[in-house]
Amino acid sequence: MSRRQKFGTLIPVIGGIIVLTVVSAFTVKYLSEQTDLKNKYSYKDFESAKKCAPCHPGIYEQWSQAMMSKAYTHEWDEIEYFELAVPHAEAKPELKGPVDGCNGCHTPLAYMGGKQFPPPRPSEKSMANESVSCEVCHLIQSAQTDPPFNFSYMIEPGITKYAGRTPTVESPAHKIVTNDFFRTTEFCGNCHNEKNPFGIWVKSTQLEWKEGPYAKEGVRCQDCHMPKGGPFLNAIMTKPYDDSRLHLFHGAHDPGKVRGTIELRIQPDMREAEPGESVIFTVALFNQKTGHKFPTGSVEDRIVWLNVEAIDAKGKVYHLNVDKKGFAGEEYTISGDYLAYQDMAVPLKQPEFKGVQRDGIPSGNRIFRMPYFDPEGRMTIMQWNTATQGVDYRIGPRETKVEKFTFKLPFDVAPGEMKVKAELNYQLLVKPVADLLKVPAEESAALIVNEHFTSLKILQ
Ligand code: HEC
Ligand code: HEC
Ligand code: HEC
Ligand code: HEC
Ligand code: HEC
Repeated sequence: MSRRQKFGTLIPVIGGIIVLTVVSAFTVKYLSEQTDLKNKYSYKDFESAKKCAPCHPGIYEQWSQAMMSKAYTHEWDEIEYFELAVPHAEAKPELKGPVDGCNGCHTPLAYMGGKQFPPPRPSEKSMANESVSCEVCHLIQSAQTDPPFNFSYMIEPGITKYAGRTPTVESPAHKIVTNDFFRTTEFCGNCHNEKNPFGIWVKSTQLEWKEGPYAKEGVRCQDCHMPKGGPFLNAIMTKPYDDSRLHLFHGAHDPGKVRGTIELRIQPDMREAEPGESVIFTVALFNQKTGHKFPTGSVEDRIVWLNVEAIDAKGKVYHLNVDKKGFAGEEYTISGDYLAYQDMAVPLKQPEFKGVQRDGIPSGNRIFRMPYFDPEGRMTIMQWNTATQGVDYRIGPRETKVEKFTFKLPFDVAPGEMKVKAELNYQLLVKPVADLLKVPAEESAALIVNEHFTSLKILQ
């Protein structure tokens, strides 16, 4: 039974009988445009990635190091699903469908064939642990919706595997059908665009790409996340291809991928200044690497922030505050001492929960983010509980953002050379939330995206 049928009742009108349409607002917006594949198959209809490994060893090893193979088992995924989403749906039954839907992207085999919601914990080593496996992607034939979103993939299990390449040898293990859909970004958009029960786009990586410069140039997701790595032997029985696609899927969890995403330049408006004078530092931030906004994807979790510090000739450090620009919602883009994320009170079953620090970084820094708000207007990291979104102050593909820092030199500043450093940092998950939920430290480690230095001569 589809989710829609389960939640909605439709009584048609014939000959003057009153029409009564009781379809919950949640159901209408969520999955209303596609056939829901929930429980449509069973596990035995699918093969484990381990079955593909002997013949596709290179691709298997790449995939097993990528987040794709951990989408269900990775600690933060387990914590958010089992400690926030599932208990939240227990408290608010209307969330049950959308929360079961987490699995439609994170462990599609469990969603389509596991017949158990929630699926077993990762420690129970069920087939749910396959996450986004070979079978998931190579059984996809098309997207059911335009634009694709919310696991809108069309999948039929079976011996036929689909891919973009036309092979030169036949596989003894399966049939191969060439399908150009694998060469589109819509293929990825099936899971990389997400609309939540409130009808909010809580993930829109493919949509961001589509309106950006790379779409016009035909540079797709695959070109940056599955680069051509030939000559490469994609299967043991065939010949190496020069244009073979590597299954790296390296993204925000690969520090090397994140590093250098934004180029920074900082300069003062004068090279010499006296104590008491005001110097304006300008920082230009150019997004040279991403095909979508930075950050993208799990935007509710991620922050990117600019820290500027001056060090005088005697080694005294001054933290500079960003100049306000005055746009609506700017308060969410400048770090400060605020409590947020109070909506976790419900799933954590702590009615007295006051929230935790919103940012957890030094105050006065510019944050490149888009805040997500719960129905009561408080910032949330629970994307399924997002009723509105605030200002989108992320850095778009090939966009340059310019920030100014006005620094009134203190009268006791040391004469001589003052060094000034601009540093851009990145965090997968805001630290106060990571600490509260005991998410492993690497998830909230501050990563330096880039840095740049300038200097100023302080006169006597
Ligand atoms: C007994 C060996 C064998 C096994 C097991 C096997 N494959 Fe293959 N597979 C091949 C060969 C050989 C090719 C053809 C490679 C070529 O020439 O491009 C191929 C091609 C493919 C292609 C098409 C890519 C292309 O090159 O056209 C896909 C997709 C694929 N396999 C997926 C899978 C999946 C998923 C599994 C596990 C469920 C699997 N394979 C298991 C041998 C195997
Ligand atoms: C069946 C759903 C599905 C499809 C199709 C899919 N992805 Fe993903 N992808 C996911 C999920 C779920 C994650 C999150 C893994 C995690 O962190 O839990 C992910 C993670 C990623 C990451 C890693 C992000 C990080 O934080 O490091 C990259 C990169 C990525 N996907 C790229 C792609 C590209 C490119 C395509 C298309 C060729 C694609 N994905 C197709 C579900 C999918
Ligand atoms: C997130 C989706 C996704 C997952 C997971 C995935 N693939 Fe692929 N695979 C693709 C896409 C997209 C292509 C490239 C299509 C193109 O550009 O032609 C591809 C290409 C291939 C090819 C042909 C490579 C080439 O270009 O020569 C083989 C073989 C293959 N995949 C096997 C596998 C195996 C085996 C696994 C599991 C270990 C796997 N894939 C996991 C999406 C995926
Ligand atoms: C021009 C290269 C390029 C293209 C095109 C591109 N990406 Fe990325 N992507 C990157 C880089 C660089 C990063 C690492 C920085 C970051 O996290 O955003 C990244 C990060 C990601 C992440 C992790 C983001 C986060 O903040 O958690 C995901 C998911 C992702 N890409 C998916 C996609 C999908 C899906 C597409 C196609 C719709 C795509 N990318 C197109 C370069 C690209
Ligand atoms: C439409 C597909 C889709 C649905 C539905 C979905 N996710 Fe995700 N999820 C993704 C993708 C894709 C990523 C990776 C984005 C990125 O790297 O920024 C992701 C990332 C995450 C992350 C962050 C992983 C990390 O390591 O940073 C968590 C946690 C998560 N999802 C939990 C959930 C929960 C809980 C639900 C259900 C309430 C859910 N997801 C529903 C596709 C989905």
